[in-house]
Amino acid sequence: MASSAAAPKRLVVLVSGSGTNLQALIDGIDAVGSDAYGAEIVAVGADRSGTAGLERAERVGLRTFVCRVQDHPTRAEWDRALAEAVAAYEPDLVISAGFMKIVGKEFLARFGGRTVNTHPALLPSFPGAYGVRDALAYGAKVTGCTVHFVDDGVDTGPIIAQRAIEIRDEDHEDGGDALHERIKEVERKLLVEVVGRLARHGYRIEGRKVSIP
Ligand code: GAR
Repeated sequence: MASSAAAPKRLVVLVSGSGTNLQALIDGIDAVGSDAYGAEIVAVGADRSGTAGLERAERVGLRTFVCRVQDHPTRAEWDRALAEAVAAYEPDLVISAGFMKIVGKEFLARFGGRTVNTHPALLPSFPGAYGVRDALAYGAKVTGCTVHFVDDGVDTGPIIAQRAIEIRDEDHEDGGDALHERIKEVERKLLVEVVGRLARHGYRIEGRKVSIP
């Protein structure tokens, strides 16, 4: 008899670099199975080739694609191509897991309200590509990580969940590498937890407020 349980939600994960957040999602889903987790990764996309993140995906047999800005005449055309590449996998949610590009209008027209990003700072403090370094340079004593929906600003979309991490005096000595590693340990767990909850329970975005029933 067919199961009445909802099918796992389809995730496309976007990466740029080492892909440890992607790995956490792969492992988190694998640990319980996609039915119990509520989602499966249907493809992994990147804005550059040959990255550790793509290798992680290939190693476990996930489908991958690469969409590089420099292969398109304009940023808008890259954005459209990225949106089409993602759309080909019919995702319910898109997860930007260390994807170091700002998506544009076309992408948001198709995937706004269902694209989730993880950021290594407590937004709205320290948005952008250098969230860890900027928090250190500011002299902040506490930073953290934020999982949020993507909107048309730079890390400005509605916040889903955050965790705080203390900054230690010695963090100033290595430019933030050790701090970023401490943040990532917490961030990976938070991302796996949040994506699973969104997938299993659904969610509402009202203005800036995100609620998961
Ligand atoms: C993560 O810390 C993520 O928050 C950050 O890049 C790292 C990727 O690590 N993203 C940003 O800074 C986006 N503004 P990973 O490739 O090992 O998952």
